Amino acid sequence: MDSVLVKGGRVLNGEVEASGAKNSALPLMFATLLAEGDHVFHNTPRLKDIQSTCELLNLFGCQTQHDGHLLKIKVNKLKTREAHYDVVRKMRASILCLGPLIAKYGEAHVSLPGGCAIGTRPIDLHLEAIKALGAEIRMENGYVVAHAKKLKGANVLFETTTVGGTENILMAACLAEGETRIENAAKEPEIVDLANYLIKMGAKIKGAGTSIITVEGVSTLKPAEHEIIADRIEAGTLLIAGAITGGEVTVKKCRPDHLPALIEKMREAGFKISQEATTMTVHKCSSWSGVDVTTAPHPAFPTDLQAQFMALMTQADGTSVITETIFENRFMHVQELVRLGADITPKTRVAVVRGKKGCLQGAPVMATDLRASASLVIAGLVASGETQVNRIYHLDRGYERLEDKLNGLGASVIRKNT
Ligand code: EPZ
Repeated sequence: MDSVLVKGGRVLNGEVEASGAKNSALPLMFATLLAEGDHVFHNTPRLKDIQSTCELLNLFGCQTQHDGHLLKIKVNKLKTREAHYDVVRKMRASILCLGPLIAKYGEAHVSLPGGCAIGTRPIDLHLEAIKALGAEIRMENGYVVAHAKKLKGANVLFETTTVGGTENILMAACLAEGETRIENAAKEPEIVDLANYLIKMGAKIKGAGTSIITVEGVSTLKPAEHEIIADRIEAGTLLIAGAITGGEVTVKKCRPDHLPALIEKMREAGFKISQEATTMTVHKCSSWSGVDVTTAPHPAFPTDLQAQFMALMTQADGTSVITETIFENRFMHVQELVRLGADITPKTRVAVVRGKKGCLQGAPVMATDLRASASLVIAGLVASGETQVNRIYHLDRGYERLEDKLNGLGASVIRKNT
């Protein structure tokens, strides 16, 4: 099983580039099902989840080609409209094929994704929204079976803001008859990126990035070409990695305007962060204060940076109260950070971090999910001695060559097959 060995005590300095956004690439890849022909995506990150999505699209009968960061998807007449359990259980975002399949082909047979380490991850809001557009949905042997002669535009109000739910209904509404109004829509930059691509395909969408999105259905869409936005979570992870070692790190090819809450919290803690349109720099800082953070939908502090920021707070002067409001079980990294010597008291949705510089000592730890694994690597950068992070396959789902990027800044992160 793969692991990485992180040598502590090295200061990171220099420049590093962010890759394309995983959480934008995935919905974009499913959006291609809405239009036969050749779709082209630039700045596509090389990640396990992208590979899994290519495998699923190939099973549908598409042809995918991912060379470097250029991804070509040729959508032909589909061979099947079934997303099999074996694929969906590995990559929950496969549920995003539901909206495009039902809108374009009038049927979909998609395995329920099941839960994951950070929570039960239900899809009830996705299904209610698709039903509101007139689809008949039933559950059969762990699969969502959906049928619709023709989707009809409707008003959809999400009781909880859901990124995936907004994406599924946004894609389905593009080919529905009439207007769809989505209220309490997610406002993440990845939603805007998806809407921009759908508009290039011929969709009529207004309000993406706000909580009210309206879609005027059209009869057909056509393939297009698109540059995927930078990965704000990877960029934030790299900035925190530089910050925790006290170095000066510039992240290039990123979008600081997509990370307002992280930048604000790092400044509140005492870091000097400078930013331009596509770069941001954390400047050398030898000590910082504990600050309180509550995760919430964009533009508030992203849940996907909670674990990484917690690692940073273990080295702060003072206490930080971290509240996770999005997922019910996203403190799996806490016990592993405690194993390294951090002083953290987790409750159900709140963790109290009592920071102390130099409190971490290298030890073997276990990655449990994608962002927890990044948090443990970041902690290893400042733990004395060596930290072995096991089950590192989690990292490969969402970070492109993270160890190379960190080593390029002066870290020593060595991958091992154990
Ligand atoms: C997306 O997941 C991201 N994944 C997650 O990133 C991210 O953490 C999450 O949004 C929140 O920002 C992708 O974009 C592929 P949600 P998603 O629907 O869409 C509840 C990472 O590390 N909910 O916004 O699954 C849900 O349980 C991953 O890159 C329902 O109750 O998240 C959660 O509490 C992890 N019913 C809340 O809403 C539903 O039908 C927000 O989930 C759907 C969601």
